Amino acid sequence: MKFPHNFLFGSATAALHIEGGDKNNNWYRWSEMGRIKDGTHSVVACDHWNRIDQDVALVKNLNNHTYRLGIEWSRIMPSENEIDYEALKKYRYEIEELIKINAKPLVTLWHFCQPLWIEDSGGWMNPKTIEHFLKLTDVVVNYLGDLVSDWITLNEPNVYLTFAYVEGEWPPGKQGDIKSYIKGAGHFITAHQKAYDTIHSIRKSLGYHDTNVGVAHHVRVLDPLNNRWLDRQSIKLMNRMFHDIFIEGMTTGKVLFPVKSDVKRKHCADFIGLNYYSRDMIKGCWKPIELFGERLLKAGCSVNELEWEIYPEGLYRLCKHYYEKYNLPIYITENGTCDSRDAFRGKFIFDHLTQVHKAISEGIDVQRYYHWTLMDNFEWAEGNSARFGLYHNDFDTQVRTIRESGKYYAEICKRRVVEPFDSSI
Ligand code: BGC
Repeated sequence: MKFPHNFLFGSATAALHIEGGDKNNNWYRWSEMGRIKDGTHSVVACDHWNRIDQDVALVKNLNNHTYRLGIEWSRIMPSENEIDYEALKKYRYEIEELIKINAKPLVTLWHFCQPLWIEDSGGWMNPKTIEHFLKLTDVVVNYLGDLVSDWITLNEPNVYLTFAYVEGEWPPGKQGDIKSYIKGAGHFITAHQKAYDTIHSIRKSLGYHDTNVGVAHHVRVLDPLNNRWLDRQSIKLMNRMFHDIFIEGMTTGKVLFPVKSDVKRKHCADFIGLNYYSRDMIKGCWKPIELFGERLLKAGCSVNELEWEIYPEGLYRLCKHYYEKYNLPIYITENGTCDSRDAFRGKFIFDHLTQVHKAISEGIDVQRYYHWTLMDNFEWAEGNSARFGLYHNDFDTQVRTIRESGKYYAEICKRRVVEPFDSSI
């Protein structure tokens, strides 16, 4: 399968996943509270903060055309009225190095992590957090905007609100708090739209007209378990609550019930970012859990090490769905799998890229694919043991070793041609 000459292949990370060393954020505290399942700690991660050159070399070695990285709010704004220019300088250095190796940076401003002073003033439930986030956006884009044209304002607010306010597995650990989920959705929509405008206007004032701003949305395929009426009703409700309120609000500014936000009805995305991992089979039920449906596995399906179904066709279905709905370029901002033995990642990549290729050949404007993730890292509440990396990381020595699937992906990036993964090579 040949991909278009201007299609961009890359890999992705988030700041907290890899940087290590930062004690001023909600995940540090969560780790200290013993809430990470395997007992590992966000303060270790990949020590990337001290190994920028080494890690840029990993990106180079993969022949990536683009690289998605995050900046860490708690480093840049350690307290309400403080900006740490040394931290900003370090991000600038990393971005300059990426540009030197022809890896176009795509920068994420918020990826599940915030400074303790934000968390302690109510986090995303406090409307003031929107203003602080806009300040962060302003500072970062003014500082890096001459180097970076492509921005992701927010990563997966739906996943964050689910784990942090409904399932209780992420800080601040609230359970069943649907009201906060809805309130938070409104705040995120407002924050995104205002950040969208801020980024465009700063870059315009710097003389640039090639700005691309979007959100990395977590999207799942939801299929009915038994095709019962109740299954289908649950899916409608779940799609609205988990997907539509976020994607509609952050793309067209239309605020869907039951969310409240004072955003304007206007275009506020230059691309649709899709993070795709898996599908759920939905069994309808009336209990107010899991946003009204039960998520189950399809009988006999293949799964990864976290028991997520591997369902490549889902990627095609979702690209088609969102392209038909919004007619905007699609970036696959994350796609990958948890496979510590690298037993099926190569095939996973092949099967998913087959679906992307199919979408493109039907005229769906998919422009980029970012593999999640560059190297094994701190995988939120799962800790270091959930391994998604194209590189294996030894967290004791911080030695990174490319996996066979990583070598395979590097070849794909080099030639923009995808051949079946041959595990015997
Ligand atoms: C998140 C990543 C995470 C990945 C795998 C996505 O939902 O954006 O931060 O590591 O899933 O769990």
